[in-house]
This record gives sequence, C-alpha cells and structure tokens, in this order.
Amino acid sequence: MEAATIFWAILVAACVLVGFAASSSDTEFRYDDGFQSANLSLDGIAELTKNGLLMLTNDTQKDTGHAFHPNPIIFKKSSNGSAFSFATTFIFAIRSQFKTDLSAEGLAFVIAPTKDLPRGIWIGFLGLFDKTNNGNATNHIFAVELDTFQNLNSRDINDNHVGIDINDINSEKQEPAGYFAGKDGLFRNLTLKSGKPMQVWVEYDGNKKEINVTLAPLKAGKPTIPLLNMIYDLSPILKQSMYVGFSSASGPFKTNHYVLGWSFKVNGEAQNLDHSHLPKLPRLGPPPKFLTIGLPLICLLSILTVVLGGIYYARRQRKFAEVLEDWEVAYGPHRFKYKDLYAATKGFRDTELLGAGGFGKVYKGVMPTSKLAIAVKRVSHESRQGMREFVAEIVSIGRMRHRNIVPLLGYCRRQCELLLVYEYMPNGSLDRLLYNPQKFVLNWNQRFQIIKGVASGLFYLHQGWEQVVVHRDVKSSNVLLDGELNGRLGDFGLARLYDHGTNPQTTHVVGTVGYLAPEHYRTGKATTSSDVYAFGAFLLEVGCGKRPIEPQAPNGEVILVDRVFSCWKEGRILQAVDQNLGTNDFAKDEVELVLKLGLLCSHSEPTARPNMHQIMQYLEGSLPLPELSVVGMSPGGLECAYGKGFEDVSMSYSFPSSTARASSQYSYVADSFLTGGR
Ligand SMILES: *[C@@H]1O[C@H](CO)[C@@H](O)[C@H](O)[C@H]1NC(C)=O
Ligand SMILES: *[C@@H]1O[C@H](CO)[C@@H](O)[C@H](O)[C@H]1NC(C)=O
Ligand SMILES: *[C@@H]1O[C@H](CO)[C@@H](O)[C@H](O)[C@H]1NC(C)=O
Ligand SMILES: *[C@@H]1O[C@H](CO)[C@@H](O)[C@H](O)[C@H]1NC(C)=O
Ligand SMILES: *[C@@H]1O[C@H](CO)[C@@H](O)[C@H](O)[C@H]1NC(C)=O
Ligand SMILES: *[C@@H]1O[C@H](CO)[C@@H](O)[C@H](O)[C@H]1NC(C)=O
Repeated sequence: MEAATIFWAILVAACVLVGFAASSSDTEFRYDDGFQSANLSLDGIAELTKNGLLMLTNDTQKDTGHAFHPNPIIFKKSSNGSAFSFATTFIFAIRSQFKTDLSAEGLAFVIAPTKDLPRGIWIGFLGLFDKTNNGNATNHIFAVELDTFQNLNSRDINDNHVGIDINDINSEKQEPAGYFAGKDGLFRNLTLKSGKPMQVWVEYDGNKKEINVTLAPLKAGKPTIPLLNMIYDLSPILKQSMYVGFSSASGPFKTNHYVLGWSFKVNGEAQNLDHSHLPKLPRLGPPPKFLTIGLPLICLLSILTVVLGGIYYARRQRKFAEVLEDWEVAYGPHRFKYKDLYAATKGFRDTELLGAGGFGKVYKGVMPTSKLAIAVKRVSHESRQGMREFVAEIVSIGRMRHRNIVPLLGYCRRQCELLLVYEYMPNGSLDRLLYNPQKFVLNWNQRFQIIKGVASGLFYLHQGWEQVVVHRDVKSSNVLLDGELNGRLGDFGLARLYDHGTNPQTTHVVGTVGYLAPEHYRTGKATTSSDVYAFGAFLLEVGCGKRPIEPQAPNGEVILVDRVFSCWKEGRILQAVDQNLGTNDFAKDEVELVLKLGLLCSHSEPTARPNMHQIMQYLEGSLPLPELSVVGMSPGGLECAYGKGFEDVSMSYSFPSSTARASSQYSYVADSFLTGGR
C-alpha cells in the first residue's frame, strides 16, 4: 500500500516537472557575441550569417523576415493581471545596397502572442500586420518601429522615424530619429538607414504604466532623456505568455536589416551589451578586385571613348543629355533613353501631339526597334526631391497590370523634366468622344461597358493591389479607350508629384474642379472615398453627356449634380440623360442605376458613399442599389457640401487670387494647374 502511494507520488511529481520543463519560459537573456547560440526561430527571408549576425532581410526584395526568441516570456501573474515591467536593448544596422539614401520599410522590435506573423509582400506593414488585421484589438501586438519609409497610407511623419505601435501600424506616438546628447541634452539627428550600428533601449514600467524608447549611436552610451516617452497601460495588450523578437520587411530596394546584439529582462534592467565581441558587419564598398582590375580598365576605356567620340559625341551628348543618378540604377528596365523617345516622337514634333493637359503635353510615338506604339507625357517639375520619390512610386505603379488600366511602361528623366511612357490607346480619351457628338455618338451599351471597366480598374487600385493606390484625378479625360473601346484609367498618381515637391504658390489639393470631394478641400487629403466622389461625377458625366460644371451654359453656370438631383427629386431622373442618345436608344433601368449611383457617390459625407467593391456589385446587378432617400440624401445635404467646401477653402488655403473664381452659391477656386485634363 505505502509503496504504491509513494510510487504514484513520485510519478506525479515527475510528470509535473517534465511538463514544467516542456513549457519553460525565460525571464532574461543576452546575446552580445553573435546569435549562433541563440537558437532563434527564423522565418521568411531572415537568416543568420556565418559570423553570427542576425540578418532580418537578405537580398530578396519585397518580402518579410521574422526572428523570435524561441521560448515564450511570461508577462503577467494571471491572464487578467497587470503586465510586469520589462526592458530590452539591441543594436541594429540598416544597409541599403544603393548608396545611402534608398532603403525600404525598416525593422521593429515586437512582442506578439505568436511567432507566426504575416509573411510576404504586405508593403508598408513591416511584417507586423497585414491589410486584414491592421488596427484590430485582437492582435495583441506591441512594437517599436524603426521606420525608413514614409508610407502613404499610415500617418508616418517622414522616412526616418521611431514609433510605438500598438495593434496598428499607425503609431501611437512617433518622433524623427535622433537622441538628446550629453549633459546639455541637445537634440541630434540620426539617420536610421545610414548603415552605421545604433543602439535602442525599450523600457516599460508596470507600476507607472510608462514606456520609454531611447536611441543612440553605438559609442554614445545611453542618453538620459528618452526619444519617446508615453504613458500607456500595456496590460490589455500583453497576454500572459508572449514571444519577443524582431520583424522586418524589405521594399523595392535591396536592403539588409541587421541585429548585432540583444538583451532582454522581465522586472529589471536589461543587461548591458558588451560591444567588444559583437559580430562584424560586412564591409561596405566594392570588393578589392574591382579596385585593382576593374577601375583602371574602366578609366582606360572611358578615355578611349572620349578621344574617339570627339566633337561629334560632345554635340550629341548635349542634345540628348540626361542625368543618371545612382539611385536610378535599380530602375534599369523601367528607364527609357531620351534619345529613343526623341526618335520615337520625331523630335517631339507638333504633328505628333496627342493633347495637352494640366500636367504636360502628350505625344504619340513609335519605338524605333520594337515598333511599339507609345504615348509620351512630358511633365516638368522644379523639385528634385519630389522627383526622386515620385520616380520610386512610378516604378512601383508601373508593375500594376489590369485590363482597365493604361500600362505605364517606364520613364525618362532629363534635368527638371520627367517623361512618362504609356502604351498608346488608339481611341483617345473618353471626353473627346463624349463632347464631340457631331463626330461620333457613343451608344448606351458602349458607355455602360466603359463605366464598368473604369469601376473595375479603380477597384483594383483601391483594393486589388498590394498597396492602396488613390488615383486622385478620376475624370473622363483621364479615361482612355483601347482598340475595343474598353475604358482604361490613365495618369494615376501624377498628382502625387506635386505633393512631394514643395510649391508654396499652391496648396496640396490637387485634382480637377468639379471632381474634388468637399472633405478633400477641407483636409487636403485624398482618400479612396474622395476617388469615389470623383467617380460619381464621372458617372453623371457619362450618363448626361455634360461636364460636372458647365461654365458656358446658356443660362449661367450649371452644376451637373444639382441638375440630376432636381430631376430625381421630381421623379423624372431619366430626363437628365444625354440628349444625343435618342429617346429609345438606351436601357432605362441601367441609365437610372448609373445616375442614381452617381448621386450616391456625390454624397457630401464620405462615409455615406459606397466603396468600389459595392459599386462593382451595384453595376453588375448582384446587389440592389439602396434607395436614395433611405441613405439620407437631401438637397440640403448636397448644397451643404458645396457651401462648406467654399468657406473652408478660402480660409485654409491660399490660392493665387488672380485665377480664383467664385460663383454665387457654388464656389470653386482653382488655379491653372488644378484645372487639368483638357
Ligand atoms: C533549439 O530549438 C529547437 C526547436 O525550437 C529545439 O528542438 C532544440 O533543442 C533547441 N536547441 C537548443 C540548443 O536549445
Ligand atoms: C533569402 O532567403 C530566402 C529564405 O531563406 C531564400 O529562399 C532566398 O533565396 C534568399 N535570397 C537571397 C537573394 O539570398
Ligand atoms: C479575472 O477577473 C475576474 C473578475 O474581474 C475574476 O472573476 C476571475 O477569476 C479572474 N481570472 C483569473 C484567471 O484571474
Ligand atoms: C478582428 O479580428 C477578429 C479575429 O480575427 C475578427 O473576428 C474581427 O472581425 C476583426 N475585427 C475587425 C474590425 O476587423
Ligand atoms: C534634424 O533634421 C530635421 C529634419 O530633417 C531638420 O529640420 C533639423 O534642422 C535637423 N537638426 C539638426 C540639429 O541637424
Ligand atoms: C523614462 O524616462 C524618464 C526621463 O528620463 C524617467 O524619469 C523615467 O523613469 C523613465 N521610465 C522608464 C520606464 O524607464
């Protein structure tokens, strides 16, 4: 009896011990002589280098890498207790392979309930979140981001900042990278992607609910004043058992994110890292072989070329001069030679001119060797800074493929001029067909197909691609027709160029009057719902064959949306339809759908507008259009939109007054480059 009891007692104790060991958790660790011994859990493109560096992103572009301490850390006594204090410090370096300035994304220290964070090309989320879970309180993620990319969609202050992220890539708090040095506490800037190692301290006080984040160059020691200080209770965020580690994403440029050393402790200060045994970063610069053999050879060749080329070369050079900067090397396949474009467009001759819009002139051309028909848009711009960011975006956007988007083949940059090369669209822009009924009247079927095509293209920009792309200038003159009369969106993102650059004369509101949503005026921010607003104006335009604002109408200025609205109110919306269509030449239900949808999208309240997905469903007939009255559309609401737009515009923006134009009730203010397109 006794023996059996003892046996069982021993067995139970053994099981408990084994169970305890299996779910063991750590409360502190330190790695400052390489990560070989760390047994980290890596995924994605994270690697350990031979000498023990943790390389979160290798040379693969647009992918993510994660590295976690293998065992979970206990952050609370009980699952609904309050979170313990903790502290961590680590040394990192970000190295871009294209000189210093181009890098992408960045890295983050992260505490997460799982080691399984999103992988793949979720651009802009640092490998922490994806489109579906960003901002969701069920994430339970705390992170400190070292962000080297200014994301269009999150509220990043610049492309070199440190932020505290809680469940959301939109930081709770962020500051430009830097530190308060020495006793005087003077602020010094730091460049995260400089390639130099830097140290970060993250500390949380569980009693005071205070978070400090401090950054410093490697040799400077820990500054006394933190870069970021925030009172925040992490108890609801941290679960009892969590994993700690790093997350990083590489963008369109080859960038390596390294961690050199790391220590962590719950309820105490993190152990100091001994800098003397840290693994060495790879040397920068070209390999020595290149210096000894390659360089002299290149020198010799270039001298020969110069001598042989002589005066002829110099003259040609002047004519076709273009600058190729280091950062452009990455865009090789997307860069066109000015010489080729010059030849293709017969020297930009006036006979090849397809049109001139707000942003520049467009020429038709045929590429000399491939015989590909192209359209070349010449855009001039003063700000080199803006140009560079813009080119990065253009190249990124150029990879989009959709049958309702005009393919952007590439670009060429020459001094302050940018040339964008698009595939040529044989049937030109939609507004020409709409407003020249003497030549050719688009029938209703063709119009409806074009509308559905444009909706599908815009849906792709908003929801179908890896990044949300806001078009910013949806209108009939930016809709081009291919050989089969399919509507294709062109010119997207162009307005963005003027956002990047600084142009004190104008505001950041770029778009075309009549298509600009009221909140876009007020906040200066273009969003997917301001695109939907413009799409609404476009629907009415195609349905009615009239411009959103017809300044030269016989009895004064006519605002199209008001006209359609009053027709609808009187129960005869079909009266607004394009007179050129003939009386029985159209499907009445489709016309009604398009006009009502146009009104719905023109709602002054952005939240009342449908999104592109819903719009697609309405147009396909798979979702019934809500009754307009039900969604609270009233003439007051519409008018209010215009009225508000006016007051706020005149208050918060200073448009050049010479070109300002105001009319009695509906007041739009524009300057010459805002009214683009025709
Ligand atoms: C490393 O981790 C793996 C799985 O996570 C485990 O099987 C192995 O025993 C660990 N090795 C050491 C030295 O901790
Ligand atoms: C990066 O790492 C991933 C996963 O280990 C590997 O498949 C890929 O080939 C690596 N890329 C380069 C350029 O080394
Ligand atoms: C959590 O708190 C509730 C009351 O707030 C208590 O009833 C429950 O026992 C607690 N659970 C644990 C696991 O401590
Ligand atoms: C948050 O995530 C949970 C679980 O994944 C999901 O059920 C919920 O719908 C999400 N909430 C939002 C607002 O996306
Ligand atoms: C730090 O950088 C900001 C923005 O780039 C700049 O305005 C500021 O003058 C810089 N400060 C110092 C001390 O260099
Ligand atoms: C944060 O920094 C402030 C200022 O140096 C300091 O008073 C406070 O104790 C720090 N808190 C933590 C949690 O380290």
